[in-house]
Amino acid sequence: MMRTAQLSWVSFALFLLNLPFSVGIPSKDSKPSCRCMPGDVCWPNVRDWAELNKTVGGRLVSNIPLAHVCHDPSYNKEDCDYLKQQWAFPIIHETSSTSVMMPWFQNASCDPFTPREQQCELGNYPVYSIDVSSADDIAAGVKFAQMKNIRFVVKNTGHDFLGKSAGKGALSLWTSNMKSIAGIKNFKSSYYSGPAVKMAAGVRGADVYPVAKANGLVVVGGSCPSVGLVGGFTQGGGHSILTSSFGMGADQVLEWEVVTADGRRVTATPKENSDLYWALSGGSPGAFGVVVSTTVRAYKDRRFGGAALSFTSSGITNDTFWKAFSSWQAQVPAIVDSGASAAYVLSANLFLIQPLTYPGATEAQTRNLLKPFTDTLDRLKVVYSLNVTSYSNFLDHYSLYLGPLPGGAYPVDRLMGGRLIPREAVTKNNQGVVEALRFLAENTNAYLGFSAIKSNANMAVAANAVLPQWRSSVITSLLQTQWNFSAPHEANVAQLNELNDIVVPKMTEVTPGSGTYLNEANFALKTWKKDFYGVNYDRLLRIKKKWDTKGLFYGPTMVGNDAWVVSGDGRLCRS
Ligand SMILES: Cc1cc2nc3c(=O)[nH]c(=O)nc-3n(C[C@H](O)[C@H](O)[C@H](O)COP(=O)(O)OP(=O)(O)OC[C@H]3O[C@@H](n4cnc5c(N)ncnc54)[C@H](O)[C@@H]3O)c2cc1C
Ligand SMILES: *[C@@H]1O[C@H](CO)[C@@H](O)[C@H](O)[C@H]1NC(C)=O
Ligand SMILES: *[C@@H]1O[C@H](CO)[C@@H](O)[C@H](O)[C@H]1NC(C)=O
Ligand SMILES: *[C@@H]1O[C@H](CO)[C@@H](O)[C@H](O)[C@H]1NC(C)=O
Ligand SMILES: *[C@@H]1O[C@H](CO)[C@@H](O)[C@H](O)[C@H]1NC(C)=O
Ligand SMILES: *[C@@H]1O[C@H](CO)[C@@H](O)[C@H](O)[C@H]1NC(C)=O
Repeated sequence: MMRTAQLSWVSFALFLLNLPFSVGIPSKDSKPSCRCMPGDVCWPNVRDWAELNKTVGGRLVSNIPLAHVCHDPSYNKEDCDYLKQQWAFPIIHETSSTSVMMPWFQNASCDPFTPREQQCELGNYPVYSIDVSSADDIAAGVKFAQMKNIRFVVKNTGHDFLGKSAGKGALSLWTSNMKSIAGIKNFKSSYYSGPAVKMAAGVRGADVYPVAKANGLVVVGGSCPSVGLVGGFTQGGGHSILTSSFGMGADQVLEWEVVTADGRRVTATPKENSDLYWALSGGSPGAFGVVVSTTVRAYKDRRFGGAALSFTSSGITNDTFWKAFSSWQAQVPAIVDSGASAAYVLSANLFLIQPLTYPGATEAQTRNLLKPFTDTLDRLKVVYSLNVTSYSNFLDHYSLYLGPLPGGAYPVDRLMGGRLIPREAVTKNNQGVVEALRFLAENTNAYLGFSAIKSNANMAVAANAVLPQWRSSVITSLLQTQWNFSAPHEANVAQLNELNDIVVPKMTEVTPGSGTYLNEANFALKTWKKDFYGVNYDRLLRIKKKWDTKGLFYGPTMVGNDAWVVSGDGRLCRS
């Protein structure tokens, strides 16, 4: 009796003090169905953490958010100004054990734009991280989280748009510093023979492209060089400017080295633990195990044709502008069928391709690929800018259009939505898709970006869990809205709502039966299960339950995530 009374008094006092950890209401301890949080009696004590720290060779970090230097008592003007400048770009977030790029999940708990007097709080950032350096460190972290019933997160670069690399009250494995890269001259197996590259968990495009080049090779990676190839990219599908020629990121995988939810180390290939291989290759990043390394196919480096092309609506009517765009979109199937890809953006008054990527092509061949389109532009009297290049290797092409390494060209102060555009939508209803895009360009604030690629299932090393709709699509749309750190929260929420209520549904209307790239989508999409995973969902869930029996691996929109709910205080509880 006394004891109960004391405990509730303590929690009441914590509530009054509004301590950052006051969320840990001790009475929740009696429910093992919830994860333990700081302040709970069941939260590991100092000795437990010290022991874990010893097991991982002193690599345990007690997290302080990156932007603490922008808040009292550790305010430092110079450091804070630097963070303000860098915040909208990837690299600064990669240098931190906690930081994630998506403003929604940063949740203003400690960012450089809130007032100096506002207390810097962990919010969604994990409480502890292990700066892992080996499979043993990873296994120690997994076992500790299981044994102590605490939320578990893997953070690599922090690019995730869905919030899967953050987690309130969590122990996180920070994989960024596992950067070893090994070339394999001749990987031999029943499913592939030839050059390959083995990449440890923290390897990004920026890390591997130069190493591949030095060995006369090229590997499939993202358009942003700072995206982690072993983490979300390959495990989530992965589209690349090389995809029309070589397939998706997940299609490249020869072997996964994995630490399972019970801390065992296993290998997954098309022949060994093949269910795990299938699921990890494009299925649901982070849901099945912690990946230690991935071995992927590599290709002989070669010449790359490239182009940037742009025009605006000035000097032409709006209808002519949209006719010109329509002619581009009609060309997309032919472009991707030739092995080329194109990244492009569209607004009510600008169209820009940057870049067109044409493996193997000379400048003349590249111009020729674009000729049906540029002929139409000439006929419509649209004045355009076109620059064509041809480099002897991939890295030079990539660096010109998507560099500089390691950060790349893309800002990350964005919320994302997306939709795959099937070949059939373009060949049978080009005008309908164009009209939908015109409506969005003229009536919403969305940034409309696109990646035109194709990926046949037969390009894959073996059958995998890439959403089948990828195989019948020729474009993935990246429907974005910019986050304004100076604006009131409601203004950003209004943008988010426009994205989810108008922009994404409009594209969905003209792409019936299609799906959405699970890595480039919105966390609030209600139809995520069907759109991200489609016919694969049930099989993925069965595999998850086999390999993660206790449901350790959780994240928003991950396969199996509805076994959990986030309660009012941010605590994870079984649903
Ligand atoms: C600017 C920008 C450009 C992008 N460009 C492209 C592109 O061109 N093509 C494309 O396909 N995608 C692109 N993406 C999307 C990108 O692929 C995803 O954001 C992806 O999740 C990033 O993976 P990461 O490991 O770098 O990020 P993180 O946010 O660190 O991790 C992503 C997810 O993977 C899990 N994870 C990470 N490492 C491991 C591991 N070792 N084991 C198990 N789980 C792990 C995390 O828990 C999390 O769920 C882009 C994103 C941004 C922000
Ligand atoms: C873990 O040990 C290292 C080395 O002894 C130490 O520097 C670090 O502060 C410790 N981490 C924690 C969270 O105590
Ligand atoms: C952001 O923080 C508020 C409390 O300050 C909380 O109610 C909300 O759920 C959080 N949102 C996210 C996305 O974590
Ligand atoms: C082509 O190059 C010129 C000169 O550098 C530049 O001004 C123009 O913007 C480029 N066009 C495109 C589409 O990149
Ligand atoms: C053309 O489109 C722009 C952008 O939506 C718009 O501001 C302008 O009024 C349109 N012009 C005409 C003549 O309709
Ligand atoms: C961001 O919001 C502020 C405050 O509302 C506003 O002054 C500013 O113009 C906005 N910036 C952009 C790029 O919209």
